[in-house]
Amino acid sequence: MASSPIIFSVLLLFVFSLSSSTSSAQPSFRPKALILPITKDQSTLQYTTVINQRTPLVAASVVFDLGGRNLWVDCDKNYVSSTYTSPRCRSAVCSRAGSDGCSQCFSPPRPGCNNNTCSATPDNTVTRTATSGEVATDVVSIQSTNGSNPGRVVKIPNLIFVCGSTNLLQGLVSGTVGMAGMGRHEIGLPSQFAAAFSFNRKFAVCLSSGGRGVAFYGNGPYVFLPGIQISGLTTTPLLINPVSTASAFLSGEKSSEYFIGVTAIKIDEKTVPINTTLLKIDGATGIGGTKISTVNPYTVMETSIFNAFTSAFVREAAARNITRVSSVTPFGACFSTANVGVTRLGYAVPEIQLVLQSNDVVWRITGSNSMVSVSDDVICLGFVDGGVNARTSVVIGGFQLEDNLVEFDLASNRFGFSSTLLGRRTTCANFNFTSTA
Ligand SMILES: *[C@@H]1O[C@H](CO)[C@@H](O)[C@H](O)[C@H]1NC(C)=O
Ligand SMILES: *[C@@H]1O[C@H](CO)[C@@H](O)[C@H](O)[C@H]1NC(C)=O
Ligand SMILES: *[C@@H]1O[C@H](CO)[C@@H](O)[C@H](O)[C@H]1NC(C)=O
Ligand SMILES: *[C@@H]1O[C@H](CO)[C@@H](O)[C@H](O)[C@H]1NC(C)=O
Ligand SMILES: *[C@@H]1O[C@H](CO)[C@@H](O)[C@H](O)[C@H]1NC(C)=O
Repeated sequence: MASSPIIFSVLLLFVFSLSSSTSSAQPSFRPKALILPITKDQSTLQYTTVINQRTPLVAASVVFDLGGRNLWVDCDKNYVSSTYTSPRCRSAVCSRAGSDGCSQCFSPPRPGCNNNTCSATPDNTVTRTATSGEVATDVVSIQSTNGSNPGRVVKIPNLIFVCGSTNLLQGLVSGTVGMAGMGRHEIGLPSQFAAAFSFNRKFAVCLSSGGRGVAFYGNGPYVFLPGIQISGLTTTPLLINPVSTASAFLSGEKSSEYFIGVTAIKIDEKTVPINTTLLKIDGATGIGGTKISTVNPYTVMETSIFNAFTSAFVREAAARNITRVSSVTPFGACFSTANVGVTRLGYAVPEIQLVLQSNDVVWRITGSNSMVSVSDDVICLGFVDGGVNARTSVVIGGFQLEDNLVEFDLASNRFGFSSTLLGRRTTCANFNFTSTA
C-alpha cells in the first residue's frame, strides 16, 4: 500500500514521456487500431480496464461494461484536471450524448457540479442503480496497436463521458472509479474511438479467466502468441432492442446492449424443448431475446429455459456415465469429475449449441466454457437461473466468453465469434503487451 503512490507517479511519467515524444516526433501519426487491457477480479468476477484520463493523467481503473451506454466516473472524489470541461445545455455535445436535461448545482463549482450544463444518468449496471450526473469531456490517452503489440500512445482531447457520484461505485470492484461502457451509442467508447481516428466502428473483445485479456478497437489483425492470427470468425446479425435495457433512460431510447438471434438451444445435437417466443425480442416492451454481457459472470436464463436446459444437460451427462452430485450455489447442476475425461477443449462433457440464424450457424460451447470447477473433484454447469420475470431471456455471461474472441461490427451490424481459442492453440491471455513504440 505504502509504495503505490510511487509506482503511480512512475507510471504517469512513463505515459507522459511516451505521449509527448510521439506528438513531437510525428504529429500526423494516425493509428489503425487501439487496445485496452482487461483483467478479471477473482472475488467479484467483474472485468476491469484502465482509462488514462485527465491533465495530469490519471490511470483510472473502471469496470469493463460491454453493453454500457458510455464511460462514467466518480467526479465527487479526487477528480482534478485542468482539461475538464462541461458542455453548455443544448450544445452539440449534449445532443450527441442524448441529453436534454439542464443542470443546476447548489454547491461550489467543481467537476460534476456546474450550472447550465447538460445532465445524464450514469448507470451502475452491476447493481442496476442510476443517478443523475453531468455530461463532461476530458483528455484520454490510449495505446495504438498494429494487431500484435501495443504501439504509440495517442490522445483523444475531448472524450465525452458522464460524471457520477461516489455512492454509485457501491457494488463495483474495490479501487475502480466507474464503468467503461462499450455499448451501441454515439458516446459509447467504440463509437468515440472510431470517430477520433476515422477508423471502422468495430471492436473485438477477448476475456481471460486469470491472465490479462484485451479489447481491440478499429481494424484487425488480432494476433496472439505464438504468432496466431485469429480470423475466419462465424458471424450473425447484431439485433437492436428498440427499448432501452438501462436502469434509467429517456422514453424512446434504444438499448445500447448487444443482442443476437439465438433460435434454438441444443445439447449434443438434441434440441432442448423451450418456448421459442421467449427467444424473440418483443418490439413493444423490449422483453425477451438473447444479449451478451460482461457484468454477468455466468450465462443467465429465464426459469423455464433454465430448467429445460439443465434437465437436458443432466440427461446427456448421465448417458456418458457422469455422476451428478449436490448442487453448489449459484449453479443448478454439479457433477463429480470422477468419470469425466479432460481434453484440449476442457472437460469432456455434452456440448452446448446455440443455434443462430440457420441450422449451420452455431455457437458451440465446450467444457472449457461450460464447466466451472468448484472444488478438486466437483464441476458445475456454469449457467444460472434468471427468474420467471427475466427481462432478457438469455444473457450470455463472462465465463462463456472467456478465451473466445468476439467481434462487434457496429457499421454492418454483425457479431463475429471465434469459438474457443484453445482449439487454435492460444488463449486470450496471450496478447503480447510488450510495446514496440
Ligand atoms: C448556480 O446558480 C445558483 C442560483 O443562481 C447559485 O446559487 C449556485 O451557487 C450556482 N452554482 C454553481 C455551481 O455555480
Ligand atoms: C507489429 O509490429 C511489430 C514490431 O515492429 C512486428 O514485429 C509485428 O510483426 C507487427 N505485426 C503486424 C501484424 O504487422
Ligand atoms: C411462451 O411465452 C410467451 C411469452 O412469455 C407466452 O405469452 C406464451 O403463453 C408462452 N407459450 C407457452 C406455450 O407457454
Ligand atoms: C456406462 O456404464 C455402463 C455400465 O457400467 C456401461 O455399460 C456403458 O458402456 C457406459 N457408457 C459409457 C458411455 O461409458
Ligand atoms: C513480444 O514482443 C516483443 C516486441 O516485439 C518481442 O521482443 C518479444 O519477443 C515478444 N514476446 C514473445 C514471448 O514472443
